[in-house]
Amino acid sequence: MSKRIGILTSGGDCAGLNAVIRAAALRAERGGGCTVVGIRYGTLGLLERPVAAIELDCARLDAALARQGGTFLGTTNWGNPFAFPMADGELRDRSGEMIEGLRLLRLDGLIGVGGDGSLGLLRRLLAPTGLPFIGVPKTIDNDVANTERAIGYSTAVAIATEALDRLAPTGASHDRIMVLEVMGRDAGHIAIAAAIAGGADVALIPEIAWRLDHITEHIGRLRQSGRRTALVVVAEAAGKAEIGLTNKDDAPTHHGMGEWLARRLMAATGSEARATVLGHVQRGAAPTPEDRLLASALGVRAVELLLNGASDRMVAWWNRRVIDVPLDKVTERARTVDPAGSLVVTARALGICLGDAA
Ligand code: F6P
Repeated sequence: MSKRIGILTSGGDCAGLNAVIRAAALRAERGGGCTVVGIRYGTLGLLERPVAAIELDCARLDAALARQGGTFLGTTNWGNPFAFPMADGELRDRSGEMIEGLRLLRLDGLIGVGGDGSLGLLRRLLAPTGLPFIGVPKTIDNDVANTERAIGYSTAVAIATEALDRLAPTGASHDRIMVLEVMGRDAGHIAIAAAIAGGADVALIPEIAWRLDHITEHIGRLRQSGRRTALVVVAEAAGKAEIGLTNKDDAPTHHGMGEWLARRLMAATGSEARATVLGHVQRGAAPTPEDRLLASALGVRAVELLLNGASDRMVAWWNRRVIDVPLDKVTERARTVDPAGSLVVTARALGICLGDAA
């Protein structure tokens, strides 16, 4: 029987979201003419009347869409159904309105593309409805549990690596310490991967406690060996709390570590230092081939699960193939960088200082 499958993207955008939407729609059409309904602006679309949603027309979802960053459906970071931020600052439970929005769409299943936070909220929203739900992991932070890869991570690492490639020659020309602050709210996956790929001298991640004197000592040693420049990568969350940097109430961002570090390194080493905050540049690019492949494979599998009657699962990438795992195993914990894992071991072997020792 032909089904109506809803899809929404939720939380911060990243490269590869359009590719997953396209893959889901194409697979659904081949599944007995199923229809995919794209819900606009994450859960926000469910609050509008009529519900902000469009039936996806496969004829218009060509390969060009898979090359585009962002999400053509739109997304939001502010769509918590149970604590929805109202204009007057009140947090209101609007889950009932969202459930009504889903009912109005007459769906047979929903695919949510999100990080662990969004997927957890969607799972909770749908629990009383009985509507089958499949999650697809996306986040440049790559910290969703039980999948080796989340959509968007590969692209973010490519951009951060390219940034290091560009910072190296300008740093060398001026004998400067170049500090690159990358995203990664709670996890250092982007930072450690880009540091290795981009040939950084120092990589600071939230999973490994670091000290400024270890970094300055390391840079001092580089100097003694004839190097007059240094490349430092810092994840935005690495040690921020420890050094007392907090976000201002009116600035809901996680920036700050890069500038702080550059100032301290300049004072401690006497070398000029400059900070670059890569920020949202890491999210908005055309997806790498790896992200396009991952998004396509996960989108196809999500639809197949719904067609086979599955629910409360997340599609995942594991051991070179797509698998699916129970959603509750994913949403209860995050996957941070393993301080004893291969990337950390590799970074140390390459002489990259992680700040826990010089
Ligand atoms: O979780 C993904 C992420 O890109 C984090 O790395 C970053 O801290 C955050 O989103 C930024 O969110 P916003 O788009 O709300 O500034």
